[in-house]
Amino acid sequence: MDKLVIEGGHTLRGTLPISGSKNTALALMAAGLLGDGPTTLENIPNLRDINTFARVIGVTGAEVAFDPVEHVLTVDPTTLEYPEAPYELVKRMRASFYMLGALLGRVGEARVSLPGGCAWGPRPVDLHLRGMEAFGASVALDQGYVVARAPGGRLPGGVFRLEPSSVGATINLVLATVTARGGSRIENAAIEPDVVVFCDALRAMGARIDGVGTRTLEIEGVSSLRPVTFRNASDRIELGTFMIAAALAGAPGETVRLSHADPGHLGEAFTEAFLRTGAGFQPGPDFVEVVAPEEIRPVSIETAVYPGFPTDLQAQWTVLMTQASGNSKIIDNVYFDRFKHIPELRRMGVNAIVIGNEVVIEGKIPIQGAQVMSTDLRASVSLVLAGLVAEGETHVLRIYHLDRGYENLENKLAAAGIPIRRERYDEFADPVLEHPHDA
Ligand code: EPZ
Repeated sequence: MDKLVIEGGHTLRGTLPISGSKNTALALMAAGLLGDGPTTLENIPNLRDINTFARVIGVTGAEVAFDPVEHVLTVDPTTLEYPEAPYELVKRMRASFYMLGALLGRVGEARVSLPGGCAWGPRPVDLHLRGMEAFGASVALDQGYVVARAPGGRLPGGVFRLEPSSVGATINLVLATVTARGGSRIENAAIEPDVVVFCDALRAMGARIDGVGTRTLEIEGVSSLRPVTFRNASDRIELGTFMIAAALAGAPGETVRLSHADPGHLGEAFTEAFLRTGAGFQPGPDFVEVVAPEEIRPVSIETAVYPGFPTDLQAQWTVLMTQASGNSKIIDNVYFDRFKHIPELRRMGVNAIVIGNEVVIEGKIPIQGAQVMSTDLRASVSLVLAGLVAEGETHVLRIYHLDRGYENLENKLAAAGIPIRRERYDEFADPVLEHPHDA
């Protein structure tokens, strides 16, 4: 198992490159299954989730080729013959559930394992299933699997309202209905950039989707879609994460540059909150420049669906607020119990209290380095951020969580002046006691 060892108190300087968007890449890979030939995707990040999803797609007989150096991935669905996604792989990554929509959209049938819960909450898929039925699919549960079928091989279409708005359900339902026999309308659809770029790719393939970027998607089914070459978006959550890192560990008054970025994907809620901390924020066409403030001002936030403050930046914001000049409060309205990082941060001296779906943070508390445990992707990166400003060394354990969504993190931070290294360790080794007891 791997861990990251970070020596705190060093200045972040220079440039941090942003990789391709993990969440958009997963949706684009699923879209590639609908084309009548191989689709080529560019700017695909080399992440565990991408490789997991490539394996999920491979189970169907479709071919996936990924060049992790060139960041180019090709999906060729012409050899697809087994419309299924097995539990052993789906349990590793919830977005594998997109296979339901992709297989229904391509071959009119699917046998897909229900995703397991995440490190936080049950994360249901009821909207996905009810939506598929609303568009005419027969959906049954069989020993932990969803077995879905389109009558006559193509969904009729229909109308469905998402409550609450859901990124995954929107993507899954679009995958299933772009090749439906008739028209479909998705109400209260998600408008995250991930969804917009995914719909743009499908339109490039010949799909007929109106209202992209609005809460109502009108889809006219087509009988086939052509393969395309399409460039993935830049990762907005990595961008937000690194902006916070720069505000935390950058030298006050000095500029840190985040390259290959798309500042337009951050949403105004995050950008406004970031500016209110006193940090400098200068967006460019494909970069962001951040200037660390002399003093970080406390800024309380509430997460919401796009363009609200992203829940995927909630844990990272918490660490920024531990260094603010006053107290603050963070409310997660999207996931009510996404706070597994708090007990680990408290072990580093952070004074934060979770009450329901809120966390109150005392500012200006010095953080001590410690051995801390990753529990999920964004929680683990918040521990790395804490390690940047901690006194002494921080060991972030079980970073397989981190490797799911941050490409080359330690190399990017090391190139920006942070003493950080990856080390292998044995999670089950007996502890080396300082005062070994007599045997
Ligand atoms: C996507 O997950 C992202 N994952 C998540 O990012 C992100 O946190 C989330 O959207 C919210 O922005 C990918 O894109 C692969 P949702 P998703 O369906 O689609 C409820 C990361 O760190 N809901 O928008 O699963 C759900 O419980 C990951 O990169 C239902 O009630 O999220 C939640 O409260 C973590 N029923 C809300 O909707 C359903 O059928 C939003 O969830 C589906 C969702």
